Amino acid sequence: MYSENKSIEQHISIESFNKRNVKLFMKRDDLIDLEVSGNKWRKLKYNVEYVHQHKLKGMLTFGGAFSNHLLATASACNKFNLKAIGIVRGEELKSDSNPVLKRCDELGMELVFVSRELYGLRNDYDYKKELKTMYPLMHVVPEGGANYLGMIGCQEILGGGNLGYDHIFVAMGTGTTAAGIACSLRGNQKLHVVSALKGIDIRNELANLYFSFGFSKQEINEWIENVVPHEDAHYGGYGKTTTDLLEKIYEFEQSQGIAIDPIYTGKVWSAIENWIEKENITNSKVLMVHTGGVYGGQHIMSEYKKLKR
Ligand SMILES: Cc1ncc(COP(=O)(O)O)c(C=O)c1O
Repeated sequence: MYSENKSIEQHISIESFNKRNVKLFMKRDDLIDLEVSGNKWRKLKYNVEYVHQHKLKGMLTFGGAFSNHLLATASACNKFNLKAIGIVRGEELKSDSNPVLKRCDELGMELVFVSRELYGLRNDYDYKKELKTMYPLMHVVPEGGANYLGMIGCQEILGGGNLGYDHIFVAMGTGTTAAGIACSLRGNQKLHVVSALKGIDIRNELANLYFSFGFSKQEINEWIENVVPHEDAHYGGYGKTTTDLLEKIYEFEQSQGIAIDPIYTGKVWSAIENWIEKENITNSKVLMVHTGGVYGGQHIMSEYKKLKR
């Protein structure tokens, strides 16, 4: 099915890093699957198991017009013969509005387009109760797969390998992936969390997330202590990019032969470069987690590549 063994730790050779004896590796979770790529399978894995164990019909979840999570849910449900319902932000949208929605539709996901106001209620207790009544045999998964089961799956990203990295870098949207990794660190490892959104207090967000999953204050403080927040690498906010960022991503792809998306992992790459320069880092082993999303971000990169030709 989805093979986590495909996610290798690949050495990324960058001349300026080699000179500093900074060894950079990339955790290639993007190789798990094209559509259920990166952190998506990590987050969905135990949710799929939950559906099977509770003999439910499928999953209902939420997402914006280009949501990687929506696509991943549609694809995983298709593979496991489960029903998929996607509540999509924007009543003006249609199933053929963009390649992500089109693909969700092809994969058999029932797309329900709602107003921004209604979408805003996605975490509201009464709204979720109403959805549960409407779809009693569906497992309701929050936007971005941000539930306890999603976090548990992300605990497995570092896996048994975890080969002596000093610093691990990962992107943050809901924080579920970072929360999973932060509680699986060993020794003095630091988790650098790069927010794709503007104005986020990363440590506070992670603490709130852990709290909502029922962890104790003591556990939360212990995990948060090893988190290094990068709150200024968002390039203007969620989904926002600049020519400078797109050029960095383009160069990375050209030199390493690995595509990274401009919404999440591209910003992580930029944060690593800045951090190494600014903090004058030497003699370190660094792991950058590729959380996938290349499919969802390709509309931005393909426009930029056209300009480069
Ligand atoms: C490609 C990609 N990377 C990183 C993230 C951020 O993950 P999280 O929401 O768990 O913080 C997302 C969002 O789900 C994503 O689609």
